[in-house]
Amino acid sequence: MTPTRPSGTTVPPDQRLALDVRQAIEAAVWAPSVHNTQPWTFALHGSRVSLRADPDRRLAAADPDGREMLISCGAALFTLRIALRGLGYAPKIRLLPDPDRPHLLADVLPGEPSADREEPDHLVAHVRHRHTHRGGFRPTPVRAALLSTLRWDAEAEGARLIQAVEPHTKGALAALTQVAEHVQRLDPACAAEAARWAPAPGNTRQEGVHHEAYPRQEPHTEPYFPGRDFARGFGWGVPPEAACPEEEGARQPVTGVVLMIVTAGDAPADWLRAGQALQRVLLRAAGDGLAAAFHTQALEVPELRAFIRSRFCHGLHPQILMRLGEPVGPELVTVRRSVTAVIVDEP
Ligand SMILES: Cc1cc2nc3c(=O)[nH]c(=O)nc-3n(C[C@H](O)[C@H](O)[C@H](O)COP(=O)(O)O)c2cc1C
Repeated sequence: MTPTRPSGTTVPPDQRLALDVRQAIEAAVWAPSVHNTQPWTFALHGSRVSLRADPDRRLAAADPDGREMLISCGAALFTLRIALRGLGYAPKIRLLPDPDRPHLLADVLPGEPSADREEPDHLVAHVRHRHTHRGGFRPTPVRAALLSTLRWDAEAEGARLIQAVEPHTKGALAALTQVAEHVQRLDPACAAEAARWAPAPGNTRQEGVHHEAYPRQEPHTEPYFPGRDFARGFGWGVPPEAACPEEEGARQPVTGVVLMIVTAGDAPADWLRAGQALQRVLLRAAGDGLAAAFHTQALEVPELRAFIRSRFCHGLHPQILMRLGEPVGPELVTVRRSVTAVIVDEP
């Protein structure tokens, strides 16, 4: 639920604070996460929230260092921050507060009431309807002014946004994604991981990428960035007839704008920054009716990531590779665990 205060209610201040913190966590769980692993927990100590990574949810084969796990947690942290700001607080964050506890990622205090709500209200409104797209985009160009704002958003969070403009750069990134997809399909450990996190139809787990979250057939755009093999040959996915083929744009979907989120360093703090930048960019874009299609396969293959870094990122570290545009195709839906499943007692 996007946090909004019911009007006309009188609740004692300490209860109000507890309700607001819970509401902010309810928003945070709607952050994107790799394979929808939702690799986070939130421990409450009074009104302080400790965000932790949950290493049982790390992708051991695709993400051995937990880089994507921390990007996902960074996206949840950004959502928690703006949800608290939208509820009228000025949150105080300590990143990685205890070197002896590497899974403790941030301590968040709601802070003093603040009147500065305009910006967070604007972003928080999109937390629930932002979702990952898997397919092509309408040929409508993405506004240059929006792309500038997205670049600024990433920088404000300590990361950078690089757009691949040159057709051969886009083509090379697409081809590298195809290589990575082949390499991962050959790797039994990656295939087993996909099986764990892409459940069969009928499975009611509130995590993972379900068959309602990807199309049965992806349109072949030029250049073509392949999607993950969530269906694993079973023919799952939203059927094409659920889309509107007569719709303008559905006939000739395009690749969209190709973007990378990059960071100067490649340590846990950088991954958290990348995640916060990612969610800020995604929510801003959602406000313009745009969605992102992620293609992070090549960044999970160390040799390909190193190549992308040196050739296309000016030596900065690529953290996310995605396409952005106005989505076309069937409506895709995603799931989340309930807030009670992610609020834990302090270990
Ligand atoms: C670090 C990271 C990497 C991701 N990589 C991919 C990817 O390669 N392919 C894909 O389809 N989705 C990818 N996603 C999107 C997740 O699958 C998606 O966020 C999750 O299923 C929840 O769905 P939602 O974003 O629609 O809420 C990635 C997300 C994150 C945060």
